[in-house]
This record gives sequence, C-alpha cells and structure tokens, in this order.
Amino acid sequence: MKHIDIAEILRDKERIGTEAVVCGWVRTFRDSAAVAFLELADGTSFSRLQVVVDKSAVALDPECTKCGASVCVKGDVVKAFRGEGSELNAKEVRLLGKCPGDYPIQKKRTSLEFLRTIPHLRLRTNMFTAVFRVRSVAAQAIHKYFHDRRYYYINTPLITASDCEGAGEMFRVTTQPWNAKYESEAAYYKDDFFSQKAGLSVSGQLEGEVAATALGRIYTFGPSFRAENSNTTRHLAEFWHVEPEIAFAELPDVMEIAEDMIKTVIRTVMDECSEEMDFFERFVESGLKAKLSNVVESDFGVLEYTDAIELLKKADVSFQYPVAWGCDLQTEHEKYITEHVFKKPVFVINYPKEIKSFYMKQNADGKTVAATDLLVPGIGEIIGGSEREADPDKLLAAMKARGMDLASYKQYIDLRTFGTVPHGGFGLGFERFVMYVTGMENIRDVTLFPRSVNNIM
Ligand code: 4AD
Repeated sequence: MKHIDIAEILRDKERIGTEAVVCGWVRTFRDSAAVAFLELADGTSFSRLQVVVDKSAVALDPECTKCGASVCVKGDVVKAFRGEGSELNAKEVRLLGKCPGDYPIQKKRTSLEFLRTIPHLRLRTNMFTAVFRVRSVAAQAIHKYFHDRRYYYINTPLITASDCEGAGEMFRVTTQPWNAKYESEAAYYKDDFFSQKAGLSVSGQLEGEVAATALGRIYTFGPSFRAENSNTTRHLAEFWHVEPEIAFAELPDVMEIAEDMIKTVIRTVMDECSEEMDFFERFVESGLKAKLSNVVESDFGVLEYTDAIELLKKADVSFQYPVAWGCDLQTEHEKYITEHVFKKPVFVINYPKEIKSFYMKQNADGKTVAATDLLVPGIGEIIGGSEREADPDKLLAAMKARGMDLASYKQYIDLRTFGTVPHGGFGLGFERFVMYVTGMENIRDVTLFPRSVNNIM
C-alpha cells in the first residue's frame, strides 16, 4: 500500500502544502457541527497525527470514528492550527478494519495489571509503544556499542548440556515422556534425543569464553532461560542477556567496559527517544531524566563486598534477611546500598567464593573471588560479571569442591590447558536495563509476552 509514515509527516516541514496518504489506527475522535478530528497512530512515532475532516466536503463513515478502527486517509498536509507541527486536511477517509465497542483499549487509562491480561493488545497504548520503542533503540545501541569497538557478535547455543551458573535452574529439553521401565536417570537420558541430559541455557558465557579465547573480544545478545521459582517483579523464566567476553582482561577492565556501555546506551536512548522519555518522566517516574543524566555524568561507585556487609550491619534498618559475612546480598540489601547510601549505580566486588560460581577467579586471600555485581537504585542487580579463573589447577579444584562432573566440562577446561589467558566478562539482564531507563517497575511490562512461574499466556 503506498502511504507515508506519520513520523515522516510530523518531522518533514517540506511536506506542508503537499498531498499525502497515511494509514493508521484511530486513537481518539472529537466531533463538532462542521468539523471532526481523528487522531491517528501508525507506530512510527510517539506523537499522533491529527486528521481534520470538513464534514460538508468529506463523507465520514461512522465506523471510521471508532477508537481502534484502522483507516487510510488521503489529504493535504498543512501547518497545525495550534503548535509547531503538521496536520492533515482529509479529502477521503477509507475504512480498513472495523473496531467494535468492546475493544479493551479505550481512551481512559487502564491499569498495568489489566493490560497484562491482554498482552496482544496492550502495545497499542502510549505506555507500551513507548516502552517497546525504547527497548528497540537500546538493543540497537548495544549492538552498535560493541560493533564500534570491534567485538564479534557470537550466537551461542540455546540447548546445552552444561549448566553455566551451576544453580540447578535449567529447564529440561526432552522428547520422551517418563517411562517406568528406566531404573536410573542416566538410563532414561541415554534413550533421549541427545543421549544425555540437556537443557535450555542459563547463560552463553561458557561458549562465549571459547570464542573470546580465539577472537579476543566477543559479545552475545540472546535469550537465557531460568527455571527459578521467583515470582518477583524482576525475574523472568525467559530473558534477554547481553554477554561480552574479553581476552587479556582483568576485573577492573570488565567494570570499565560495563560502565562505559551503560552510559553510552543511556545517552543514545535519551537522544533518540526524547518524546518517550518525557512521557515516562510525566507518567511513570518523576525525576527519571535527572536520574539518567546523573548516571551518565558521574562515576559509578565501587564497594568491596566485605565493606558492604559492614555498612549493612550498621544500617538503621531492620532487614528481613540477616546480614553476616558470607551471605548472599538480597534485593533489600542491594536497594539499601544503592538507594540510601550511594544514590547511583554501584559495583560490589570480591564476593565470598562459596556464594559465587565455579568459574570465577580466586583471589589471593583464599576467601573471595574477583566477581562484581552492578546494583542500581530501584531495581538492584542488573549486571553480574567476573574475571574468570585462568589457572587450570585452581579451576579444577573449584569444580571438584562443588562435585561437578569434570568430563562434561572438558572443552571448557581445555581453554586453560591450551594457552590460557586472563579474561573476563559480564552479563546484563536486558529487561532489567529497560526497566531502569524507562522507570517501569515490573519486568512483565517491558517484555512482549513475559514468561514467569505459572504464566505462559
Ligand atoms: O548474575 P548472572 O546469573 O550472571 C551470569 O549469568 C553470568 N554467566 C554472566 C556473565 O558473566 N557472562 O546473570 C546476569 C544478569 C543479572 O545481573 C540479571 O540482570 C539478569 O542476568 N538475570 C535475569 N533477568 C531476568 N530474569 C531472571 N530470572 C534473571 N536472572 C538473571
């Protein structure tokens, strides 16, 4: 269908005085004795196009005036009666698709909770078009960030036999139903599609390390799956994961890259999505733009895990989860550190080895590993990363201490046997990042079809 994007009409002043055909969905309709006004959206811009219909000259089918109906309008582009923009004086309004009165997205604001029950339609609201436009711009900016710095974009397998994080949170991949004839788990999996136990990957990191120890700098950007029983506002069973992996890099390098990437992507979003950011500022999080400008302009904090524990112990707050050296930081602890103490993003570094993964570089103190989590106000952890253990003996010792099956990690261990190098990387939860830049408080509201415990709509 030959037509012009609404974004193009609103942006390009040279179109004033020309004829144009636009297609879109009716968002609002206002009527007076002589003139009717339709506001059209076609997805190409946050602002809608006002179509002015002179009722004495143009026949207007009542179906074309219903909220949600799709129409095609031919008309003249003119300077808007009010403000700086353009509008369209209709010469012909043609119905493309009717929209009956029980259309659930009406003009009045509906709750996010209700909208979650209609994921196939909620994108037609201002809120969700804004979220998904920001999400798209952020994704492109992440690819550009790495491409500009000569990282290779690698696609790691989604079906895997090795559990990267070792937390037992993998979804199983199988083609066979349970059958009582099997006496053991091993015998059962032997008959399965891959002749062994397989699952959906929780992280592309292990394969990312394979690529980084040949190509130098790589990143992945794909889905990860976690069968965590965490029904919270920041956990999904399927989320998108950005994972750079860098050879010849130590923990401070990893943190520097993470900080630079976050700042660069936020800058791009603020530049390219100014209308959406104004909307979020007004309707979602007051102070959002100042918060993000502050993130871009100031240095992220850095806090030793051991100091974090001391700080939490002295806090004038009663936490639900007790604090002691060796404990994992809970969301309430992370939020206290970022929201009450630093008021900006903070890297917590050097965690106890017992609460972190087998692959992390063991520090000289024998107690901690060179790991970092980036915590941000409002959300908590958005990045987990580390320098990797490059010493084969230390890696094997850590794996044995965890009772891991060394045979199934032979390829990973080989990376240390054949020309090992210091290297490291991190994983950014993309949805959590989108929450942070939009101010949205529930991860289900920045995902097209969120998958979480008891929910696969
Ligand atoms: O801290 P995590 O578990 O780290 C890893 O997976 C490493 N292998 C990454 C690496 O070093 N390459 O996860 C990284 C990030 C978290 O900080 C969080 O933002 C996100 O992934 N994440 C989730 N996001 C949504 N729902 C979940 N269930 C998530 N689990 C982790």
